[in-house]
Amino acid sequence: MIDSFIFDLDGVLVFTDKYHYAAWKEMADDLGVYFDEKINNRLRGVSRMESLEIILERYEGPALSKEEKEALAQKKNNIYRELLKKMSPDDVSEDVRFTLKELKKRGMHLAIGSSSKNAKLILEKVGLMDSFDAISDGENISRSKPDPEVFVKAALFMDKKPESCMVVEDAFSGIEAAKAAGMKAAAIGDARNSEKADFKIEKLSDILNLIAV
Ligand code: BG6
Ligand code: MG
Repeated sequence: MIDSFIFDLDGVLVFTDKYHYAAWKEMADDLGVYFDEKINNRLRGVSRMESLEIILERYEGPALSKEEKEALAQKKNNIYRELLKKMSPDDVSEDVRFTLKELKKRGMHLAIGSSSKNAKLILEKVGLMDSFDAISDGENISRSKPDPEVFVKAALFMDKKPESCMVVEDAFSGIEAAKAAGMKAAAIGDARNSEKADFKIEKLSDILNLIAV
């Protein structure tokens, strides 16, 4: 029986995915590398450095050293964090707020399972820091999605078994990670195209129909 939910953050609870895209786009344009929204979908759930490697698949310039790659990732993160400064509680939709409150009311345990090292900063900016029993993010993992580590740790932090957890994800890599962790996976947004998802939802509150009342 499901008694716990693990939410991806970017693209599920807040639409920071558009800021990730804008920041990578600026970096890629400066480097003269083609980048579009389709390529951006491959970066969902993927760590910063792995995202850079995906973008560099189209790079045709002189070989880049490890330091140069780190500088590019840093440049993207600086642009991204500038964009995050604009975020406020208004960036959390009524549907998301209602869903989190309703799940709590029904006695569910809630966690974050995000690959991002900026997750806590975002949760603070939008006023959601106190809405979760546990936060598992880019700071406590060594392997990013599709590896299950981030979700396995989220369950561990809540002291829950994988089979009692449902993951909500907008990334293909996140759905794979959830299944590899032995959890149920609900797909929203782009991840709805994944065949591995157990459930496909239009909006977050649809998950309320997936649990016994
Ligand atoms: C994930 C995003 O949540 O976090 C990815 O879907 C992103 O697109 C990853 O690359 C890492 O984020 P950050 O904030 O640590 O660069
Ligand atoms: Mg996401």
